[in-house]
Amino acid sequence: MVLVGKTTRLRPVRLSDTMMLYRWINNKRLNRFLGVEIPISLVKERKKVRDMVTKIKYTKHFIIERKDTAEPIGMMSLHHIDIHNKKATTGAYIAYEKYWGKGYGSDAKMALLKYAFLKLKLNRVVSHVFPHNPRSARYSLKCGYKKEGLLRQNLCKKGKFYDSIILAVLKQDWFKVAKKQGYI
Ligand SMILES: CC(C)(COP(=O)(O)OP(=O)(O)OC[C@H]1O[C@@H](n2cnc3c(N)ncnc32)[C@H](O)[C@@H]1OP(=O)(O)O)[C@@H](O)C(=O)NCCC(=O)NCCS
Repeated sequence: MVLVGKTTRLRPVRLSDTMMLYRWINNKRLNRFLGVEIPISLVKERKKVRDMVTKIKYTKHFIIERKDTAEPIGMMSLHHIDIHNKKATTGAYIAYEKYWGKGYGSDAKMALLKYAFLKLKLNRVVSHVFPHNPRSARYSLKCGYKKEGLLRQNLCKKGKFYDSIILAVLKQDWFKVAKKQGYI
């Protein structure tokens, strides 16, 4: 399943992406915005990628590619897909700082939300964002998310607690944004 945005394309993660994902996830400047602790060993990353490729019922992982050059620039996932309550959680990163703030993240997110709401028929998609990451909150808001609250000391990284801002988008809110921006 390939998802197509205006400037990005999302294709499923492959086993051959392992070395690239291993390099990306261990990048310190990127990792300060993510909920995972590094360093992650190659052995562990190989297992993670194997799971990403095979355990795809409740989680879908995509590589974000630039549409014009096909260069892989990041990843985006839909986790905890809950068919009964019609909801899921997203996580994402653009791996290269030179591509931050260029619109690739929100374009990829709009393509993922189109898949979540129209294909999987979900109703609600949630994202957790660190308070020290206003860019991430901003790109979600651009896609129709609203801030719902703050979970205090929700994550522990290297012995330090971090709050999480909860943002969520409902299908009805996304429809308005998607129509206005020409995604549907
Ligand atoms: C978060 C991320 C996926 C967003 O993707 P992106 O391509 O950079 O986002 P976009 O360019 O589509 O949108 C970013 C918006 O934030 C704004 N922005 C940029 N820096 C900002 C800052 N420091 N504070 C507030 N807003 C900021 C941009 O101006 C843009 O809004 P605008 O289009 O209204 O001007 C990407 O920046 C990234 O991967 N960052 C590092 C990892 C990360 O934070 N992952 C998310 C974890 S929750």
